[in-house]
Amino acid sequence: MQKKKRKGLLITFEGPDGSGKTTIALKIAEWLQKKIDGRGPTKIFYTREPGGKNNVIAEDIRNILLNKIEYNITPMVETLLFAASRAQHVHDFIEPHLFKNHIVLCDRFIHSSIVYQGIGRNIGINIVKAINQFATNGIEPDITFVLMLKPTIGLKRIMNNTSREQNRLDKEKLALHNLVYQGYKKLIKKYPKKMIPINANQSINDVLKDIKPYIEKLIQQKKYHG
Ligand code: TYD
Repeated sequence: MQKKKRKGLLITFEGPDGSGKTTIALKIAEWLQKKIDGRGPTKIFYTREPGGKNNVIAEDIRNILLNKIEYNITPMVETLLFAASRAQHVHDFIEPHLFKNHIVLCDRFIHSSIVYQGIGRNIGINIVKAINQFATNGIEPDITFVLMLKPTIGLKRIMNNTSREQNRLDKEKLALHNLVYQGYKKLIKKYPKKMIPINANQSINDVLKDIKPYIEKLIQQKKYHG
């Protein structure tokens, strides 16, 4: 049987904890919705990892990963659980939308596993990539925005944000967050066309201004209306 073609766009948002990805990804979704939704077959969908929109299995795994402080999860199991949650999310949500020519905005994806588990937990980049290649059926983002913010500033933001509960990974030592930050820098250097560093230490509007031209270029190439 011929393999179905993925026609949509997968745009991912990455960055250390506290870098403001979620706020930015939601605002980009709103902007794109106004620009594109309803003018053609293309629709915009926001989702986030670990977990995924209305995905019971992926959300249950998220709960284990982020909230069960009392579990002694090994780095290997942590890696596999992130990948398992991602596999269900890709199968149920991301891939069907990409087949339909939609634009999916995903708050964290494979690159989080590469830097947090591959580098931060020392599992190794290649093994994490291989596990995730299997989990995602080979799906890769079309573009990834990496909101860069020094871990000391990001962690301070989280401490000051009373509306956001701290999760198991936020509570990790600064050393892990430093490795994550350095890991993103490495990826940006290795994949300069697909991984775009964005200065997250500026106003929300300025962050949005830095991101939008890249998306405009991508949707022009895809000939989406807008
Ligand atoms: P979340 O509460 O979604 O916060 P954030 O706003 O920081 O994204 O927490 C997700 C945490 O899980 C975050 O510390 C990064 C971590 N993570 C991994 O370690 N590996 C992964 O593959 C993913 C998707 C997330």
